[in-house]
Amino acid sequence: MSQEQERLKIVIVGHVDHGKSTLIGRLFHDTDSLPLGKAESIRKACEAEGMEFEYAFLLDALLEEQEQNITIDTTRIQFRTQKRNYIIIDAPGHKEFLKNMITGAANADAAILLIDANEGIQEQSRRHGYLLSLLGIHQVIVAVNKMDLVGFNESVFRQIKQDYTAFLEKLGVSPKYFIPVSAKHGHNITTRSPQMPWSESPSILDALDSFALPPSQEDMPLRMIVQDVYRFDERRIVAGRVEAGSLSVGDDIVFWPDRKRSKVKTIESWNATAPQVRASAGQSLAITLEEQIFVERGQIAGHPDSGPLEAREFCANIFWIHDEPLSLNHPHTLKLGTQQVEARVLKIHRVVDSSTLEISEQPRMDIKKNEVAEVTVRVRRPLAFDNRDRCPETGRFVLMQGERIGGGGIIHGADYASGQHRAKSVTSENITWTEGRLSSDDRAGHFGHRGAVIWLTGLSGSGKSTLAIALEASLFQRGIASFVLDGDNLRHGLCTDLGFSETDRKENIRRAGEAAKLMAEAGLVVVTSLISPFREDRLKVQEICKASGIPFAEVYISAPLEVCEQRDPRSLYKKARSGEIRGFTGIDSPYEPPQNPDLEIATDKNTIKESIAHLLGFVLELSNRQKTFSAEDELPASNI
Ligand code: ADX
Repeated sequence: MSQEQERLKIVIVGHVDHGKSTLIGRLFHDTDSLPLGKAESIRKACEAEGMEFEYAFLLDALLEEQEQNITIDTTRIQFRTQKRNYIIIDAPGHKEFLKNMITGAANADAAILLIDANEGIQEQSRRHGYLLSLLGIHQVIVAVNKMDLVGFNESVFRQIKQDYTAFLEKLGVSPKYFIPVSAKHGHNITTRSPQMPWSESPSILDALDSFALPPSQEDMPLRMIVQDVYRFDERRIVAGRVEAGSLSVGDDIVFWPDRKRSKVKTIESWNATAPQVRASAGQSLAITLEEQIFVERGQIAGHPDSGPLEAREFCANIFWIHDEPLSLNHPHTLKLGTQQVEARVLKIHRVVDSSTLEISEQPRMDIKKNEVAEVTVRVRRPLAFDNRDRCPETGRFVLMQGERIGGGGIIHGADYASGQHRAKSVTSENITWTEGRLSSDDRAGHFGHRGAVIWLTGLSGSGKSTLAIALEASLFQRGIASFVLDGDNLRHGLCTDLGFSETDRKENIRRAGEAAKLMAEAGLVVVTSLISPFREDRLKVQEICKASGIPFAEVYISAPLEVCEQRDPRSLYKKARSGEIRGFTGIDSPYEPPQNPDLEIATDKNTIKESIAHLLGFVLELSNRQKTFSAEDELPASNI
């Protein structure tokens, strides 16, 4: 590889006053990377104004020269050593830096972390250390700067090294080098300093030169992100950018998540003179395909046997930067490549304060500014992505908070390293998701209401079926399309293979829940009537519904066991008592009542008529309050 091509991208992070600009200025100056006469003219300008010359001014001057647009919050400036070129990725402030790192605007191969010898380790040093670990930057130099201010004292350096090493160890980050430096006076920058003979470290430049280049983007599996599809005459042209790997005319390619497959017919590049037959990472291009398959913006093209993952649920680390916290289950737009999809954080497993690195595993409902959380994310429709380790470009995403970036995330796929948090992804390789053309808004507009799931739970004989059937009829009369899913009925068909063991009941509720969700997605108000004795199973159904934006209400149809046993319309309790039926709910199998139902109807205290009226009122109140139920609606809790 020629020196021109060989480039290592580095970030220099550190507390504002720890000498970042000075170090950068110094690196430029000492590597002769400045335009001819630049340093001299700045030196003269300083003299004329009676100011002391500072290396930081060199950086300012360089930036000015770039005439960068102030809205661009990443700058990339280069310097070179004998070995290769370096690009310093920089941002005007910490906030922008964090944002850039997470969103991928800045993507570094190595980092220099600056600590001020005089001030020691600060909160920001901790934060940056954590970030480097989070972002998986493994080639790290910790530069302990301003050694001149502490008289080049070895023990000051050793203490910082010891403390910071211990801190970074907890994060799984082990810096390749700790180097005592003075950026201002040029100690240990390009050559080893005679002032610190006790130091075993190489100079900053030698340390950088020892770092490895990342695997070439071109050697990675193909990832072409589709930007747009244009029609010219009969031809359809797919425009996009190759983020990784390469593609050639004649290649079989697949577009995820739909997995439509075709062959590359031509590569049309904007300014090529000869027909192009191959394109590789970093190139924006347009291609035509052999078959006219449906391709759209957002999709990711790859080769058939090395494509991205595809799932509706995955594990990720999120770094939240918005003032307003991210709330559990709240819908956000997730952007990955050119894909945009509604996403919710379904579970927050761990939250880490990025400054103190205190880890909290308490149940959390939100992620606050500057917190990093290990989460499970659920998206509304299948997303094509990679684990960050496989392909960084398609392994990170952004979560929007309204119009602004709320935070960024890095995907870990189906498993955390601990193996504790298994996310449900599509397990079979050959399963895809086909997106319909109608949205839930379309259906709601057509039917005049949205679908919902009203989940009745209670003992056998508590009155679930009676109320469900009456509710269904009353809703129907009022123009609300509804349908009852009854436990007994389902066991005649969909669940005919299931008995009453705990496992079978679990599966019974899962199937009923999925069926209810589907029917609600189709636009119906589904009223279920199942004992559904276990809290966890009911909660799972609630999660399934919420993740699809379906309003869900848990309604507890309560009556004491004695009352149900007295009613015993089908003599089932009698049979259970006599041992003819085993594992009967309430007798020799448990019932876990809801702890916080959205509505409770005590059928022993109310007549059937009253109970129906309450139930109907509850559902109607919901539909009247807004002609359509919205996904964000929390159903009101009330008791009678
Ligand atoms: S659930 O526990 O899996 O939710 P489901 O509501 O489908 O139960 O079925 C309950 C109905 O099955 C009861 O209304 C009753 O008619 C019948 N049944 C038969 N055996 C049992 C049993 N062992 N426990 C509860 N219900 C039973």
